[in-house]
Amino acid sequence: MVTKTILGICGSPRKQATEHVLTEALNMMEEKGYETELFTVRGKDISPCRNCDYCLRKKECLLKDDMYQLYPLFKDVQGIIMATPIYNGGISAQIKAVMDRTRAAAAVDLDFLKHKVGIAISVGGDRAGGQELAIQQIMTFYILNGVIPVSGGPFGSNLGANFWSQDTLEGVKEDEEGFRSLKKTIKRFDEFLEKYQNE
Ligand SMILES: Cc1cc2nc3c(=O)[nH]c(=O)nc-3n(C[C@H](O)[C@H](O)[C@H](O)COP(=O)(O)O)c2cc1C
Repeated sequence: MVTKTILGICGSPRKQATEHVLTEALNMMEEKGYETELFTVRGKDISPCRNCDYCLRKKECLLKDDMYQLYPLFKDVQGIIMATPIYNGGISAQIKAVMDRTRAAAAVDLDFLKHKVGIAISVGGDRAGGQELAIQQIMTFYILNGVIPVSGGPFGSNLGANFWSQDTLEGVKEDEEGFRSLKKTIKRFDEFLEKYQNE
């Protein structure tokens, strides 16, 4: 059996709650036999998309920054985990820049993410600070790029994994409900990968 690979993309500029939770998620996937790869925006230079449409003409992005480290990683992965901190009730500007800059990958191959399976993780400082909206923003990105969006299901993980960090690393580690939502999401992620990614 070919080992499947999961790509985790962290949208926090800090090594704190979001990166911790995403690392835990990738560890859970490794325990299930997957290979994993973590890409973080932390310390990276990733500019917002300029809508110059250079990519549509030239099949590459004009902005030669650290997004070029991410483009090749999409190629050989079966599953994606996008994790974002909550900024002003939604996703971080950093993860939004990553999403928008994938326009260049789509310019090369419109189906660059098609049929992959995706889950979302959101981490807010407040208990209800916009986690569900952020997950919906990630799910929207998945849907419009042909990624199969997966949650942990009803009774604990309706849209995916969402965490309350109380603005600290220690806070997120104490969030038992958050980890329950993550475990449920990982369980279904594995099921969907098994069912839809067997080629
Ligand atoms: C600009 C900014 C806006 C924020 N807005 C929210 C918010 O609307 N809701 C919320 O729950 N937390 C908000 N937070 C708090 C972060 O989501 C929280 O500290 C989170 O743990 C950050 O992730 P990190 O620990 O991975 O850096 C905000 C933080 C920043 C820097």
